Amino acid sequence: MGGLKELAVEVKGLVKAYEGGFRALNGVDLEVGAERIFALLGPNGAGKTTLMRILTTQLSPTSGEARVFGLDVVREGAKVRKLIGYVPQEMSVWTDISGYENLLTYAEIYGVAPSERKGIVWSLLEYMGLGDVAHNLVKTYSGGMIRRLEVACAMLIRPRIMFLDEPTIGLDPSARKLVWERLSSFRREYGTTIFFNTHYMDEADLYSDEMAIINAGRIVALGSGDELKRSVGREVILLGLGEDAVMERVLDKIRELESVGYVIANGSELSVIVDEAETALPRLMEALRREGISIKKISMSKPTLDDAFLKYAGIRFESKGRISEVRQMRRMIRRG
Ligand SMILES: Nc1ncnc2c1ncn2[C@@H]1O[C@H](COP(=O)(O)OP(=O)(O)OP(=O)(O)O)[C@@H](O)[C@H]1O
Ligand SMILES: [Mg+2]
Repeated sequence: MGGLKELAVEVKGLVKAYEGGFRALNGVDLEVGAERIFALLGPNGAGKTTLMRILTTQLSPTSGEARVFGLDVVREGAKVRKLIGYVPQEMSVWTDISGYENLLTYAEIYGVAPSERKGIVWSLLEYMGLGDVAHNLVKTYSGGMIRRLEVACAMLIRPRIMFLDEPTIGLDPSARKLVWERLSSFRREYGTTIFFNTHYMDEADLYSDEMAIINAGRIVALGSGDELKRSVGREVILLGLGEDAVMERVLDKIRELESVGYVIANGSELSVIVDEAETALPRLMEALRREGISIKKISMSKPTLDDAFLKYAGIRFESKGRISEVRQMRRMIRRG
């Protein structure tokens, strides 16, 4: 590629030990290019929030270095704060006032010029699809509306980088989609870098240009979703054969094929493990045709991010049970 790419985030040897010495971050190295959408993907307790809180200057590291657009988060915190928008993991808006009042209050906190406040607030309410409910109390909003309001708050200063800690937690797929549509178009319009945490693999896969997998305070993999999946390697072709297929002979024929890794038979179903399904499949079908074997069913499966996580972190990703919990917590807060 050549040339210098501007870095939005630069982290070197970052360690965060909490009281008692537990290392929530245990030597993190990371670079995120400007104008990228970057996902930090990891299970509960991996250190995602800790890293984000250091990058947003709320928490100081134990050792190591972190920079945002070249500014040191410890020594130049005030300057960093002028460049960033932040949506924390927990609820960050007041529920007993309206969405409009929330934004106006944040605009004041963030030092938006008084003469510009109302204009900016209204344009953001419209932008995030909250114009119609602007004057309703936030406690009457849906989870998706609340998250959109929080995102709007983080957009007030038109930041160069937005940090979003689990931006769509507890939202249903259509509400998640809406949040991401707005974030993507904001990035397109203003060149804002987006750095988000998630433990939804599909969300990291769908919306990020690049992602890192973090586990137990360490970055264990880095790349685009496709790169990570490809790095797991093999694809699986599942074949359902006619009842009359003579399995032993079929297996021998398939094993002879160059593009085939190995084959597992299960009744009349075969799982054929290959490096690349696109090349292997035609050869496979040709070989079976020559033997006069009928194929009843074909399906292919590619490695998933789940497989990538298993490979790099050595464990399965478990995030079930938590979403409903968060939803419940949000409901409770809303009721006040
Ligand atoms: N203030 C604290 N004091 C002690 N330990 C903490 C503190 N905050 C976090 N931890 C621990 O540090 C680890 C990383 O926490 P962190 O909140 O960064 O994880 P996370 O990846 O954001 O998890 P989640 O997906 O649940 O939000 C966890 O084991 C957590 O219990
Ligand atoms: Mg967290």
